[in-house]
Amino acid sequence: MTGQQTSSSRWFIQATLVLVLAVVYRIYLHDTIGLMVGIGRVVQPIEDFPWDCMRLRHPLLEGCEDIWLDHQDRKLYAACTSLPSRQGWLPGGSHLNVSARSRTDHISVLNIDHPGPDGLYGLHTLSVGDEYTDDLDLVGFDVRKVAGGLRFWLINHRPPVNPTTGEFLDAWAVGSNATIEVFDLTRGSSTLKYVKTIVSEALVAPNNLAVDDDGVGFMVTNEHGSKVGALREINAVLGDGIVSYCRTDTGKCQIATNRRFAYPNGIVKARNGLFYIAQSSKGIVSGHRLEEGRLVQIDEIPLGMPIDNLSFDAQGNLIVAGLPDIMRFRKSAKDPYTLSGPGAVLMVHQLNTHPPEQREGYKVSKMVEDREGKRLPGTTVATHDVESHRLFLGGVFSPFLGICASRV
Ligand SMILES: *[C@@H]1O[C@H](CO)[C@@H](O)[C@H](O)[C@H]1NC(C)=O
Ligand SMILES: *[C@@H]1O[C@H](CO)[C@@H](O)[C@H](O)[C@H]1NC(C)=O
Ligand SMILES: *[C@@H]1O[C@H](CO)[C@@H](O)[C@H](O)[C@H]1NC(C)=O
Repeated sequence: MTGQQTSSSRWFIQATLVLVLAVVYRIYLHDTIGLMVGIGRVVQPIEDFPWDCMRLRHPLLEGCEDIWLDHQDRKLYAACTSLPSRQGWLPGGSHLNVSARSRTDHISVLNIDHPGPDGLYGLHTLSVGDEYTDDLDLVGFDVRKVAGGLRFWLINHRPPVNPTTGEFLDAWAVGSNATIEVFDLTRGSSTLKYVKTIVSEALVAPNNLAVDDDGVGFMVTNEHGSKVGALREINAVLGDGIVSYCRTDTGKCQIATNRRFAYPNGIVKARNGLFYIAQSSKGIVSGHRLEEGRLVQIDEIPLGMPIDNLSFDAQGNLIVAGLPDIMRFRKSAKDPYTLSGPGAVLMVHQLNTHPPEQREGYKVSKMVEDREGKRLPGTTVATHDVESHRLFLGGVFSPFLGICASRV
C-alpha cells in the first residue's frame, strides 16, 4: 500500500467516524444536551414571583431528598441525612464511598401550622423500633394512610455485604444493595415499627416509588439500568432506566417495562388511574396505565427543563421540582454550604382529575424560580399546601428546607 492510500483510507475512517458521531448526536443527544444545558431557556429571578421564601436551616434538615405532606394531619415528613454523607454515599449519582456514610439518615417531622417560638415548626425525628437493627440510607419514600396511622415505604441504599462474613463488599465493584423497608407509624407515636424488608433483583437502582390504590402494590423507578459500570452515567442520560412493580404482601418485584426510560425519577399515582413518571433527562412527565403488571404509556407532558420529583396537591395539581440550571446545581452539590443551586417549581393544572384521553390542553405554569439561588434550595422535591397556600421545598444537596408563602 502506498503512503497516499494509507492516509486517504485513514481519512475515510475518520470522516466516517465523525459522520456516525454526528448522526448519533443528532438522533440521540441533541435534544437531551439542549435540555441539560438549557439552550433558549429563560431562567427567571425569584423577584418575578409572588412568594415570600425563607430557609429553614437545621442539621436535621440537611440533604432531604424527599418530603411527603400529610395534607389532613398537617405534618411534613422529610428523608434527610448529613451533606458529607450525601456527597460520599449517593449510589444514584455513583457516589459509592461506604465509609463516608454518616449513618444518621432519618425522617424529620414538622408541624406545618405551628412555627413555635424558635420558628422550627416543632422539628423532631422519628425513631426506629428495636426490631430493626440495620442502618437506613434513605432517598425516596412514599406513605399511605392505614387503619390507626401511616405506612412508610422507604428506599434503603444499603452498602453491599458478604452474607457469610458480614464484611462490606467493594461498592465500586458491585454497587449498593438497595432494598425497600416497610414501617408503620401508629397515630400519636413517633417510633417507626418495622414491618418487612423487600429484597429483589428488580431493584437495580431505585430512586423513588409510588404505592398503588390497593395499598399493597407499588411502582419503583430505577434511574439506571445497571448498578455500576464505566458507561453507567452516559447510559442514564441516553435513557436506560427501568420501572419495577413490587408487592408488599409477597415481597416480590418484577420489571414492569418493555422499553427504557430517560432517567425515571419521581413517580406518583393519579386519581385518573395513571402513574405519572418524571423522565429527568427528557424534561417530560409521562402517564402510564398498569396492565397485568406492565406499564403502557398513554400520555406525555413536556416541561422544558430537567425535572425531579412529583407530588399532587389537594386540588389535584401536579407539582414538579425543576432543575433549570444543571451546571450550577452540580457546582453547588460540591460546595453546598456556600452555593445554592437554582431551583424551580412547575405546576400541571388539574392533572389528577383530567381524563387521560384528553391529552391536549394541559395548562403548565411556573410557580416560582430562583435564578441566583437566593432563597430556594437546588430543588429536588416540592409540595404545595393548598390550605395555607405555601410551598415546601427539599434539596438532596441542600443544608436547609425552603418554605414559600404566597403574597397574593
Ligand atoms: C471515603 O470517605 C472517607 C471518610 O469521609 C474519607 O476519609 C476517604 O478519603 C474517602 N475515600 C475516597 C476514595 O473518596
Ligand atoms: C416524591 O416521589 C415519591 C414517589 O412517588 C413520593 O413518595 C414522595 O412523596 C414524593 N415527594 C413528594 C413531595 O410528593
Ligand atoms: C442485601 O440485603 C439483604 C437484606 O438485609 C441481605 O439479605 C442480602 O444478603 C444483602 N446482599 C448484599 C449483597 O449485601
